[in-house]
This record gives sequence, structure tokens and C-alpha cells, in this order.
Amino acid sequence: MRQYDFDTLVDRSGTDCLKWDIKDGELPMWVADMDFPTAPEIREAIERRAQHGVFGYQIIPDAWYDAYITWWKTRHGMEIQKDWLVFTTGVIPAISSAVRKLTSPAEKVCLMTPVYNTFFNSIVNNGRVPFECPLSYDKDTGYSMDFDALEKALSDPQTSLLLLCNPQNPGGKIWNREELARVGELCKKYGVIVFADEIHCDLTAPGLSYTPFASVSETCRQISITAVSPTKTFNLAGIQTAAFFSANPVLRHKLWRQVNTDEVAEPNAFAVDATVAAFTKGAAWLDELREYLQENKNATVAYLKENLPQLSVVSTDATYLLWIDLSEILRQRADLINQKSDPDLQKSETQIPDARNFVRFLREKTGLFVMYGNVYGKGGDHFMRLNIACPKSMLEDGLARLKAGVEMYLSSESET
Ligand SMILES: Cc1ncc(COP(=O)(O)O)c(C=O)c1O
Repeated sequence: MRQYDFDTLVDRSGTDCLKWDIKDGELPMWVADMDFPTAPEIREAIERRAQHGVFGYQIIPDAWYDAYITWWKTRHGMEIQKDWLVFTTGVIPAISSAVRKLTSPAEKVCLMTPVYNTFFNSIVNNGRVPFECPLSYDKDTGYSMDFDALEKALSDPQTSLLLLCNPQNPGGKIWNREELARVGELCKKYGVIVFADEIHCDLTAPGLSYTPFASVSETCRQISITAVSPTKTFNLAGIQTAAFFSANPVLRHKLWRQVNTDEVAEPNAFAVDATVAAFTKGAAWLDELREYLQENKNATVAYLKENLPQLSVVSTDATYLLWIDLSEILRQRADLINQKSDPDLQKSETQIPDARNFVRFLREKTGLFVMYGNVYGKGGDHFMRLNIACPKSMLEDGLARLKAGVEMYLSSESET
């Protein structure tokens, strides 16, 4: 018997939330926020703060540092020193500041793709160049790092920073100690700084944990900055609260200066209380959430296996985002179109289109709104990303729409 309720549908329409800014009848399963209210313990802390009624400038109290330090020690087995930690309003603001401070215009920032699309914005908006280093993909075993490609990217004299996503979004891969240690050694060899985005680290499958990059070796500790936050885990993205830490005083000082210059170093009136409540009182809620998410993942995989065997879900150990390989249906659709227009064309001559057309079709015909994989960089073209962090009844609705959408897409009558 669960203590917390994840089944009740909460109507988010009319709340000016990004995810539900959609047409009537549409179902959004795209952006990475959850359709669950945050933990009651966190709501209580926010309500207490709201009741106080005075919302002046805020400072960072010891309780904020203690909350991060204790959570990382007890949940992730890592000792973070108080003076390593710096408040920032978000992980992306910290990444953009790091790009500005730690690299020069026109230099390259390495990314292992497919990876969170906003990384590209932080690089390109600042006049730097993304250096995409695709992960190796195997339909049965999922993703792994391609160390030859990585070394090539890091050894480019113009590469000065690596944005590492640990665990990976999308794909849900938890990088292991050996992989992370190798990344650290290669980056050290070529003088590349590592920015480890660990925002998804608490959303691991039940029984699994992640390895903080900075905990792997002295090398990893010294060449890196890590960003963390309670916002993904506890569904608090709109509160805008995060932290970065680094054991390297020079890197830490540089980024601390830059987040201050960029004015993303000060908390709003709810940021501290929400964070402290999350990390001191949210563990039980989180563990039930992880079980619920796992049930949703299992249900999705089972549903697809039975109803849409042409789609394959990349095996995942973390995040609430399923990364689904569409190559088979994209190929079938392309064959269908080509055969119609030119019956003599050989199937082997068919080029598989990317996922954009299917994803647009799905939204238009069924209202299901998901992300197409192209936006996550090289290697993402034939995938879609599905957010399964919602009550089971909503998930069932989404899966039924997906099935209907695929059937229409593959019917010779349909037009796109
Ligand atoms: C890997 C990753 N980093 C950062 C963010 C956003 O972080 P923030 O809202 O703190 O800027 C997301 C949101 O989905 C994400 O997936």
C-alpha cells in the first residue's frame, strides 16, 4: 500500500504551464516535467513560506548547504564540502555561464549525442560550436560511449569543454565508474574541462543508483564542475533552484564569478525552502515515485511489445523519458509511399525519413504530442521521446493514441 497518490489526474490546463499550452483534446507527453503534484512535505514548506507574506531578498542559509551535503552522502555515497557548493537558479543558466566563462567564442564544446537539446542552445547562443560525438547504439544493448570518437573530439585543439549528461537524457543510461574514469582521463590528457549535468541522478530505477562524476577519481574531481538540483526529481522546475559544485577552487571561482555577472546566483523566496524540504523530507515520496515510474515503463514496454512490435524502447535505467526507436515504421511508411509512386523501385533504394514527419502526423491525427529525436543531435533522427511521468490512466490514453497514430501512418490511405 502506497503512502502517496500518483494516480489522481490533476487538471493543469489554465495554469499557464508550458507543457499544457496545447489545443483542446491534445495530450502532451513531451517536455520533461511530471503530471504529479510535488511531495506533500515540499508543498507544506512552500505554503508556510507563502503564508508568511513577506517576500524580500533571500540569502542562502546553512540549512541549504546541509540539505545537499547530507542527501549526496546518504543517497549517493559522495562527500561534498560546503565550500564547493554554489546556488544558481537553474542547471541551464549554469551551463550557459560556464560556456561563456570557460571557453572563447568559436571554440568547440563536445557533446555525446543524442543529448538534451538545450545544451545546443547554450553553446550556439554564445557563439561557440557544438562538437557532436555520437554514442554507439545497439538495438539490443542500448547506448555506450564511443571512446575513439570521443578522443578525436577532445584532441581537437579547439575543444575546451565537454558537457556530460549523467545519467543521459534521452536514453536513460547511467554511466558506470569505468566509463566516467576514462572520460576523466581523456579530458585531462587534452586539457578539456568537464561540466557534468547530473539533474536526473535521483530518478534511477528502484534498486539502482548513479555514480557522481566527481566521485570517480581525483582526476575527475579536479577537472570538473557538476550541476545538481531537486527540480527534476521533485517536479519543481518552475521554482528555479539548483546548485553547482566543484572541488577545484579555480574552476569554482570562475563559474561563481560568471553566475553573479549573469545574475543567476540569487534565490527567489521559495527556492531555498523547497530545496531544503525536498532533500530533508522527500526521500519516501521519491522512492514511491521511482516505483510508480518503473511500473509505467514496464507497462509501456509490454503494451508496445503486444500492440506495436515495430517500435522498440531503448533499455533504460534512469529518467522518466522513454526513447523509442521508430526506424521500422519510418521504413515501412517510406516503402509504402515509394511503391505507390514507383512500383518498380526496390525496397533497398528507400531512404528512411527522419522522425519529424511522423511526430507531426501523430499530433495532428491523435493529439499525442511527443518530441522528435532530431533535436537531440546526431543519432536521434529516427527516434521519439515519450514522457511517462503521469498517472496510469493518462499513460493508457497516450499509448492508445500512439497505436492509432502508427496504424494510420502505415495505412496506404493516409496522407501526411
Ligand atoms: C539534462 C537536463 N539538464 C538540465 C535541464 C533543465 O534544467 P534547469 O531547469 O535547472 O535549467 C533538463 C530539463 O529537462 C535536463 O533534462
